[in-house]
Parts: sequence; C-alpha cells; structure tokens
Amino acid sequence: MSTPLLEADGLVREYGPGRRVLHSVGLTVAAGETLGIIGGSGSGKSSLARILMGLQRPDAGRVRFRGIDLYGADRAALRAARPQLQAVFQDPYGSLDPRQRVGRIVAEPLRGQGLDRAARDERVRWALEAVSLPPDAATRHPHAFSGGQRQRVAIARALVGRPALVIADEPVSALDVSVQAQVLNLMLELQARLGLAFVFISHDLGVVRHMAHRIAVLEAGRIVEAGDAAAVLGSPRHPATRGLLEALPTAPSC
Ligand SMILES: Nc1ncnc2c1ncn2[C@@H]1O[C@H](COP(=O)(O)OP(=O)(O)OP(=O)(O)O)[C@@H](O)[C@H]1O
Ligand SMILES: [Mg+2]
Repeated sequence: MSTPLLEADGLVREYGPGRRVLHSVGLTVAAGETLGIIGGSGSGKSSLARILMGLQRPDAGRVRFRGIDLYGADRAALRAARPQLQAVFQDPYGSLDPRQRVGRIVAEPLRGQGLDRAARDERVRWALEAVSLPPDAATRHPHAFSGGQRQRVAIARALVGRPALVIADEPVSALDVSVQAQVLNLMLELQARLGLAFVFISHDLGVVRHMAHRIAVLEAGRIVEAGDAAAVLGSPRHPATRGLLEALPTAPSC
C-alpha cells in the first residue's frame, strides 16, 4: 500500500487543565479520496481541523503530510509543501480579508513560491475559472459577492497552489440550502478533475453522505466509528452514529 497523503496519530488537544477535547485521535487520508468527519456540536471537529491544517500544534501526537511532520523541525520542506495542503472554513466572510481584492486573496498561497507576477496572475485566472467566477472577480472586494460566491473565492484560494489535499471545516453550513448543493457539486467536480483529496468536516450527515468515501464519527473528542461510508451508514455500530442517522430527514438531502 502506498503512503497516505495525510497521517495523524495520537492527537491530543487540551484547553487548560482537565479540559481535554481530543483524546488520541488518529486517521489517514489517501490521495484522491474524501474522508468525512462527522460529529455533534462541541465534539472537537474544528479543534481537530485546525491541527490537521497545520494551524494549531497538538498537545500530543503527530500529523504528517506527504511524510513531512507539520509541527516538526524541517521548516523548508513544510514551506515547499504548504500550497498542496489547503483549508476552507465555514464562514467565507470571516476567512477573507475584506480590505483586499479577490485577486490578491486568491494568490496568497503562492507567496514565497518563487513565481513571477505573470505566472501568479495566470494561476489566479485559472483558479477563478475553475470555480466558475468571472475573471473580473479578481478586481473586486469580498463584500461585492454573495455568500456562495465568497465560498467559491475561498475554494479558488485553496486551489491556486494545485493542492493534493483540502481540509474543509463546515464549508457549506453558513450557506442557503440551494447554494449548498452548488458548492458541494463544485467540490465533487473539482475532485474528479484534479484528483484532489478532501477532509470534509460537518455536523450534517446528509452533506457528509453526499461527499465522503470513508467516514469517521467523532464523539466527545474520540473517533468512535470509522470505515467505508456505505458500511458505516448502512449498518452503524455505535450509538452516536445511529443518533446522527436518526436525526436525518428521511428524504435524501442532496
Ligand atoms: N479556543 C478555545 N478555548 C477553550 N475551549 C475551546 C476553544 N475552542 C474550542 N473549545 C472547546 O472545545 C470543545 C470542542 O470545540 P470544537 O470547536 O472543536 O467543536 P466542534 O465539533 O467544531 O463544534 P461545532 O459543531 O459547534 O462547530 C468545545 O467544548 C469548545 O467549547
Ligand atoms: Mg466547528
């Protein structure tokens, strides 16, 4: 078996004494696949996401992206790999600097990568086109877009460095239901076209079911069930998974 793209083991996160919110979490993500992480509010999903994104050092445990320790000593290797590990957040407004033009926001992961201006502009045009935004979007500010369009800007920024893996924490939860389906389908289409892998985090099992090849269920900071999406959803073994399934409307949501 080839090395996974992302490998995490023994992850612990504590917000002060006795406030442990992740307990020895481990997972792997292979190239081109979507790992769905599902769990109720407060189960530790965003805490885990920030660690997997390289934004928050865990209190214990390790995360390796393409074999590089995200919190290790080899800063040069990590900097070189960084454009290939990208993030999309829940709130597309909060995660985009309102004072910058979209062209600059989208180009951000390319900084320090040794590309000249023309090459950067070309990559930004490509990324905006990939998410079906018009080329003149680059000259506008985030407030000139709808919520769904802003999330497309955030996805364009994630794509611009030709990532192998995008970690998305509740990427559609702030959007209207009709726009949610568009953004989810865009992500699926980009995955098919570009061979991207996703970690797709959501409290909404209907959304995760639409996206994930494999599912991990997080409850109170522990992965209590994990496996192929069809197996986990078809014959859930853990009460937490059954609870999430029972909370779903009976009609398919996407
Ligand atoms: N910066 C912080 N300081 C202290 N406690 C925190 C902090 N961030 C999160 N927590 C606590 O850690 C636990 C897990 O929070 P986290 O945001 O990871 O959950 P979540 O699964 O993403 O929830 P939601 O579905 O509501 O987004 C919660 O009890 C939360 O109150
Ligand atoms: Mg969260």
